[in-house]
Amino acid sequence: MPKKLRLGILGGGGDSLIGVLHRVASQINDNYEIVGAVFNPDFKLNKEFAREIDVPLNRIYEDFDTFIEEEMKLPENERIQVCSVLTPNFLHFPMALKLLENGFHVICEKPMTTSLDEAKILQKAHKKAGTVFALTHTYTGYPMVRQMREMIKAGALGKIHKVDAVYYQGWINTIIHDKKKRSSVWRLDPKKAGISSCIGDIGVHAFNMVEYTTGLKVKSILSDFNYLYKDNKMDVDGTVLIRMAEHVKGVIRSSQVATGEENGLAIAIYGEKAAFRWEQENPNFLYVLSDTKPTQVYKPGHAYNSNLSLDGTKLPAGHPEGIFDSMANIYLGTAKAIRGEDYNDGEFPTMTDGVRGMNFIEGTVASHKQGNVWIALD
Ligand SMILES: NC(=O)c1ccc[n+]([C@@H]2O[C@H](COP(=O)([O-])OP(=O)(O)OC[C@H]3O[C@@H](n4cnc5c(N)ncnc54)[C@H](O)[C@@H]3O)[C@@H](O)[C@H]2O)c1
Repeated sequence: MPKKLRLGILGGGGDSLIGVLHRVASQINDNYEIVGAVFNPDFKLNKEFAREIDVPLNRIYEDFDTFIEEEMKLPENERIQVCSVLTPNFLHFPMALKLLENGFHVICEKPMTTSLDEAKILQKAHKKAGTVFALTHTYTGYPMVRQMREMIKAGALGKIHKVDAVYYQGWINTIIHDKKKRSSVWRLDPKKAGISSCIGDIGVHAFNMVEYTTGLKVKSILSDFNYLYKDNKMDVDGTVLIRMAEHVKGVIRSSQVATGEENGLAIAIYGEKAAFRWEQENPNFLYVLSDTKPTQVYKPGHAYNSNLSLDGTKLPAGHPEGIFDSMANIYLGTAKAIRGEDYNDGEFPTMTDGVRGMNFIEGTVASHKQGNVWIALD
C-alpha cells in the first residue's frame, strides 16, 4: 500500500492566511499527497491556484457538493481519504459534517463550529463515522508545549495554583477605527465568524493551551469584553477569569487590538514546586522557575525531553524548528491514527477539544452579556 495518504483541501487558497501552513505541514513528514481541492469558491481562481502549486486539475472541483459527489464515485483505493477544512468558520460545520457522513477522515481548523449545538451534532456524527477527526490547535504541536504537558503529568510542578495564558495580537487596531474597513473583514462578521471574534479566533487557542498543558479542565469562567464601537457586534478584546478547581485559578487574556503585538501567545503555570513559562514567538525555550534554584531552560531535541516532545523534532538540538513543524506534528499524529498505528495521547487535538472550545466561546459570550457573571462549563 502506498505510504502517502490522499489529502483533499477545502479553502486555503492563494489568497488565504492559513493555506500555506497546512500545505507545507502536510508535506514535512512525507505522509500526505494533495490530490484534490476546492481552494476557492471562484472556480477560475481555484483552478489558477491549483495550476500554480502543481495540483492536477482533474480533481479540482467547482464547489464542495461537487467534491463529495465526484469523490464518492471513485473506487475507495483512489478516493481522497482525509480532508482539511480551512475555510472561514461558518463553513467548518456543514463541510466537516458531510465529510464525516461520507466516511472521510477530517482535519479541521478552529473554532470547530459556530455554536456548541453544532459541535455536539458533529461529535455524534464523528462517533457514528468512526473515522479520525483532528482539530488544528497548531500550538500544541510545539515540542516544548508537549514537554510542559508531559512534565506536569509527571508531577514536576506539584499542585498547580495559578495559570496565566495570554494571546495578544494588534492587527484589528489598523481596521476597527474605520467603519468601512471593519465591515469588510469576515472575522468581524457574525454570519461568517460566529458569535465571537477575539475569543473565537485566538482566546480559544489560549483556552486549549491551558487544558492541554495542565491536564485540568476549566470548570467556570467570568468574562469582560471590549467591542470598542457600538455598531461593532464582535468582541475584539476579552479577559476571562477561569476556575479549574477550588484552589486552582487563573486568567486568559486575549486581544486583537493590543497595538503592535504580533502573535503573542504565551502561558505561565505556577505550582507549589516550580513554574513553567513559554512563549509562542520564542517556541524553543521552555523556562522552569523555582523559588530555590536558578531558572532552567529546556530546549527541543535533547534526550532529557519526553517521547512526546522528541517525537516532534526532526533535527538534532540547536536546529530551530517553528510553526510549520508544529503543524506538521499534528499532521503526523493524525496520519498515524488514520493508518491505525500507535500514537501518543496529545499528538493532535480531537473532537473533544473542539466541543470544549465551543463551550468556552459560548460561555464567555454569555458571561459578558449577562453582566460579567460566572458561567459553568459542561
Ligand atoms: N490554527 C491556527 O493557528 C489558525 C490561524 C489562522 C486561521 N485559522 C483558521 O483557519 C480558517 C481560515 O482562516 P484564514 O485566515 O486562512 O482565512 P482567509 O480569509 O485568509 O482564507 C479563507 C480561504 O477560504 C476560501 N473559501 C471561502 N469560502 C470558500 C468555499 N465556499 N469553498 C472553498 N473555499 C472557500 C477563500 O477563498 C480563502 O482561500 C479560519 O477558521 C481560522 O479561524 C487558524
